[in-house]
Amino acid sequence: MELRKSGGLFFVLVISIFWFTTVLAQPQADLDAKTEALLKKMTLKEKVGQMTQVTLSEVSKKRPDHSFENVLDLKKLKSVIVDSAVGSLLNTGGAANTALNWQQMITTMQKLATQKTRLGIPVIYGIDAIHGSNYIKEATLFPQSIAMAATFNRDLVFNEGKITAKETRAVGIPWNFNPVLGLGRQPLWSRFWETYGEDAYLTAELGKAYIYGLQGKDGDVSKPDRVVACMKHYAGYSVPLSGHDRTPAWIPQRILLEKFLFPFEEAVKAGCYTAMVNSGDVNGTPAHASKFLLTDVLRNAWHFKGLVVSDWNDVNNLYGRDHIAKSPKDAVRIAVQAGLDMSMVPFNCSFARYLEELVREGTIPESRIDASVRRILKVKYALGLFEDPFPHQERLQWVGKPEHAKVSLQAAREAITLLKNANDILPLKKSMKILVTGPTANSRAYLNGGWSYTWQGNDEFYFPKSNKTILQAIRDKVGKKNVKYARGATVNKLDNILQAVKKAHSVDAIVACVGESSYCETPGNINDLSLPQAQITLVEELVKTGKPVILVLVEGRPRIIRPIVGKVQGIVMAYLPGPQGSKAIADVLFGEVNPSGKLPFTYPKYVNDFICYDHKYSEEYDVNRYDPQWPFGYGLSYTHFKYANLKLDKKRLKPDETLRVQVDVTNTGQRAGKETVLLYVSDLVRSVSPPVRQLKSFRKIRLKPGETKTVTFTLDKKVFEFVNADNQWVVEPGIFKVSVGNLSAPVKITE
Ligand code: BGC
Repeated sequence: MELRKSGGLFFVLVISIFWFTTVLAQPQADLDAKTEALLKKMTLKEKVGQMTQVTLSEVSKKRPDHSFENVLDLKKLKSVIVDSAVGSLLNTGGAANTALNWQQMITTMQKLATQKTRLGIPVIYGIDAIHGSNYIKEATLFPQSIAMAATFNRDLVFNEGKITAKETRAVGIPWNFNPVLGLGRQPLWSRFWETYGEDAYLTAELGKAYIYGLQGKDGDVSKPDRVVACMKHYAGYSVPLSGHDRTPAWIPQRILLEKFLFPFEEAVKAGCYTAMVNSGDVNGTPAHASKFLLTDVLRNAWHFKGLVVSDWNDVNNLYGRDHIAKSPKDAVRIAVQAGLDMSMVPFNCSFARYLEELVREGTIPESRIDASVRRILKVKYALGLFEDPFPHQERLQWVGKPEHAKVSLQAAREAITLLKNANDILPLKKSMKILVTGPTANSRAYLNGGWSYTWQGNDEFYFPKSNKTILQAIRDKVGKKNVKYARGATVNKLDNILQAVKKAHSVDAIVACVGESSYCETPGNINDLSLPQAQITLVEELVKTGKPVILVLVEGRPRIIRPIVGKVQGIVMAYLPGPQGSKAIADVLFGEVNPSGKLPFTYPKYVNDFICYDHKYSEEYDVNRYDPQWPFGYGLSYTHFKYANLKLDKKRLKPDETLRVQVDVTNTGQRAGKETVLLYVSDLVRSVSPPVRQLKSFRKIRLKPGETKTVTFTLDKKVFEFVNADNQWVVEPGIFKVSVGNLSAPVKITE
């Protein structure tokens, strides 16, 4: 028996070795050989063309407003793909297109590329499918990333990625410019909601889940329902000091390494195929000119093999905006020498022309160009574009499937975060008379935010009428009769507040939906994080009626609401929950869903107090306090969870050993509920002042009333490491504290 077992094992081993060395290695060797053979045949012009990316509007006819159909300009398209040998296109031309229209356009492009160019190299089309395939009319949209982060649910993020890949690839687009792996530590920033929040570990975990969803865990992107991911914006983009988009960030080197680079390094390890460069400037160097970021770290330290694309117009920005290049051509030199592979030019083919000149005059060696083209071709080979670059009509049915919308709904439900529930005002009874009010109550667009059918996502026209607004979803839930509506205020101005107050007098409870309109990137810049005064006034006037007020926050960043927090009974954070968000909000308000979201960021109380949860001890010392409105990880439930029996399997361990941590979690309330169990580690003494705690693991569980589950975590060396003053990752022996819920236990790391 034993022998047969070991014989069997031996057989399995031999087969596995055979499999890994021949079957799996084969495609890689094959791919390398094909790439080299093709590269040898290419002229310089064809090579620099591969490194050039042009936007759809440049090859399209002017499109009428409010259309879902883009019309290609064949003359311009030919000039770009055939005459200039451009290897990549991107974006949507103003607004989303129908899936069929996308298929037709991609087919036309690939026909030109593969049948009318000398070498027949397919183009690679890239798109921002930020929360689902948001530029395909019929596609499934999801909550924005900040809301996905609030779910603390890797499986949901994985499924979002998987569905996004399937629907995007179905129309012939194989490249998604997502996930955003910058950290949301600057709440003023207009792209805060594109992040997974303030924590590096959470961002890395969800980023990996999303990448696996897009590319498959095995990274075989030749499958027809997968796309290549693009981690962005590498790196340090998310914390502009001013809070304004695309303005400088100042990040100490060790914090850059320990926090901001960490999620990108994890994404590289997870096999992410492509990266997009940070559009801003870190410590005085625009990222597009940073050899440190693009070559020393990404290539030399992390051995990233994929392709690096610039952000929009950012090579040119080195000249026109940043004043570090003497001319547009000099800007191309700087970016390519720093390590860029492809320029999102995006309005013309100037990059290719300048690059060709730079090589011909001997400024850049052709071998440098070859290195980039090799990477680009390999991504195209990996995607199977050389075998089949065309979309297939029968795959149109993959787009917008009802079961995909169910995942989006589940994500919205798990994202919603209950921040206040005085006297258990929530859930509301369905028999109550309700006033629904506020600027975000009756909008489809505001639930989705930017990157929704249009870049800014602010045109209600494009949102399917089948999507419900919060008002409609509440009416669906409790019937029209019991629900009154008055907007009371727009985002910035009062709007017949008297009508709202009058209606409030005759109801049992007020649901005040406040927050933000849709925006994206620089147009979303603000100078003040406070919720606009008109909305504060609206809520204060409603409070004066004596009726209980429940705030629903529909916002992409935490707008300061301190003046009204103490005055309202309930606060529900909805983030930007996507098209299913209204139903999810109504489900939570009326108790059909027990909320389980947790804040993936610190919700500030004051406009000058943006301290994150992983702050230093000095920020809690003497009169200093970490005094946010709500801390990172905060979120209430309609039930209660009790933590007990925290056990560590060792009291002391060497850095290379693993530590098992166990804790019992019990649902002590009357309702089933989900709880995210967060595990923090604190280094008590170290050479660089430690943060008070850092998230190192988490698990989301579901518990029936009265049920107890034991949650086990296995921690390894990484958990105890930090970047020291010499910018090295180290573990310094000493005492660490492991905390879960309200429990904690020490562990000693020995030499
Ligand atoms: C954004 C990127 C985006 C690109 C292409 C830029 O303005 O910064 O995140 O991927 O446009 O649309």
